[in-house]
Amino acid sequence: MRKNIVAGNWKMNKDYGQALTLINEIKEGKPASNAEIVLATPFPFLAKAVELVEGTDIQIAAQNMHQAEGGAFTGEISASMLTSIGVHTVILGHSERRAYFHETDALLANKVDTALKHDMTVIFCFGEELKDRQSNNHFNVVEYQLRDGLFHLKNEDWKHIVLAYEPVWAIGTDETASPEQAQEMHAFIRNLIQKVYGTDVAENVSILYGGSVKPDNAKEIFSKPDVDGGLIGGAALNATDFFGIISGI
Ligand code: G3P
Repeated sequence: MRKNIVAGNWKMNKDYGQALTLINEIKEGKPASNAEIVLATPFPFLAKAVELVEGTDIQIAAQNMHQAEGGAFTGEISASMLTSIGVHTVILGHSERRAYFHETDALLANKVDTALKHDMTVIFCFGEELKDRQSNNHFNVVEYQLRDGLFHLKNEDWKHIVLAYEPVWAIGTDETASPEQAQEMHAFIRNLIQKVYGTDVAENVSILYGGSVKPDNAKEIFSKPDVDGGLIGGAALNATDFFGIISGI
């Protein structure tokens, strides 16, 4: 079901004490909002985070997971490890995973399938690089990422999918996409899904924008008709900025 979502992707930040402090600040001080709030903390903090937010409307998410059910994959985390500690949402396909860990669309399709097998919600990330936009190839790049990563799914699978369009050139750069650029791409994505899966799926999938969302630009970006919230990096690491973004939806 389409909903407004503000998700904080903490990436590889905070130690245990700092993480508990921030989670408690968010739990106790977040502004009233119709948006679902998601905190994607590093793996070591997930179980405690789930415990701390119990009874609130805050969801806890993992930032990645392996596609296998288990086995000799040193250092990896499986879907059942996550669901067994109460984590039922996972970010997949983040550009940093694609770039630094060479995650391909085919691998991500496998990870999505595993997550859905465990009834998890997937926040699926995708987006073009600067060279793609400069060569006006950004729509093709996004279409291929969606087709190769998600378009094997059945209609009923899409109730577990949240899309996060994150232009790589806007991530961590303070070069935020303009509200018009975000809306243009989000509308393209929704139209593409409508063509392949029909109106019901297209109208009910949440499409988040990520890439240098800050308190001073969130409201205008979130006001666009096909933008259903944001996936936030740097500004999610302190409560004041995170609240400023939540207040913008
Ligand atoms: O996943 C969200 C992240 O990639 C955006 O980072 O720091 O540009 O908000 P940031």
